[in-house]
Amino acid sequence: MRDRLLAAEKVKAIDWRDGALFLLDQRLLPASETWLRYTDAAGVAEAIRSMVVRGAPAIGIAAAYGVALSAARRLEAGGDWHAAVSADMALLAASRPTAVNLFWALNRMRERLARLRSGESPVAALEAEAADIHESDREANLTMAQLGVDMIRKHQGNVQALLTHCNTGALATGGFGTALGVIRGAWIEGMIERVYVDETRPWLQGSRLTAWELANEGIPVTLNADSAAAHIMKTKGITWVIVGADRITANGDVANKIGTYQLAVNAMHHGVRFMVVAPSSTIDMSLATGDDIPIEERAGSELLEVGGVRFGADVEAFNPVFDVTPADLIDVIVTEKGVVERPDTAKMSQLMCRKRLH
Ligand code: MRU
Repeated sequence: MRDRLLAAEKVKAIDWRDGALFLLDQRLLPASETWLRYTDAAGVAEAIRSMVVRGAPAIGIAAAYGVALSAARRLEAGGDWHAAVSADMALLAASRPTAVNLFWALNRMRERLARLRSGESPVAALEAEAADIHESDREANLTMAQLGVDMIRKHQGNVQALLTHCNTGALATGGFGTALGVIRGAWIEGMIERVYVDETRPWLQGSRLTAWELANEGIPVTLNADSAAAHIMKTKGITWVIVGADRITANGDVANKIGTYQLAVNAMHHGVRFMVVAPSSTIDMSLATGDDIPIEERAGSELLEVGGVRFGADVEAFNPVFDVTPADLIDVIVTEKGVVERPDTAKMSQLMCRKRLH
């Protein structure tokens, strides 16, 4: 399956060339494939904030390259470059609050900086560290795809239809995806007939990004309104809901795109299994439960306007963009270190003691 997955890898959203970071502008997809070039940390922080790049692993990878760019620019400028790089890291850390991969990647870069040997080039060392974060995420995607497919096979062999939410594919990661990687693997293995994709209001990551990725690969995809999910679970033979994560806490609670929690409640009601797929860089063992996760709230205008045109009434709008699914609604969490069925604190801490499987 690994070779077939690699052969199917068509889309990428992050590229590092000639000392610059290139990001596919995800705000414009699928209408236009426009690449933007970044040469400093402030630009990368703004790209994360404004959602040029989005998806938890992709945000972490972009931030890591942002630190490499920071070192290059601050060394060129002279003076106390260490202090200036620290300030840039703080700027990157402030770009979005929920996906822990951002802070995980910045910590890795900070630790690499602290381990510099005398005479070693900081820029080369940080570029290599960012590239390693990028490549490891791609490898983790492959491992998770295999483990997720094994999990589907273990429970019921061939499935008729899956439901997913938001975008967890090549656009959101360093490889071809977390939840969408499992879905791609299941398709390659002939295990699914159709994928239902929630449109994922208000940013429409489902209709603009996931549906586009799946259709590009010839995987049968049907788009639905978020509010149709329970009806689809009841009437369309859905056997698994498969989603990604932005932060998983020590007890197995999962923060993911707003709407994930209601999917898990509905899945439990309909006897549909619920799978979360995320690399271990998404697991935050410093937080005991999901109640501690900072939930990003974005502008109400994202709900009241479409394409910049106001259609909503003149009212206040509440726009939390993530929610927390409690661990007891989750059948399995799939990571590159292994899987955790019916997650709890003891099982999560055992998982984190394991080595990566690749
Ligand atoms: O606001 P976004 O688009 O960054 O949110 C992304 C999600 O919620 C994804 O489901 C999650 O990051 C998993 S991506 C592999």
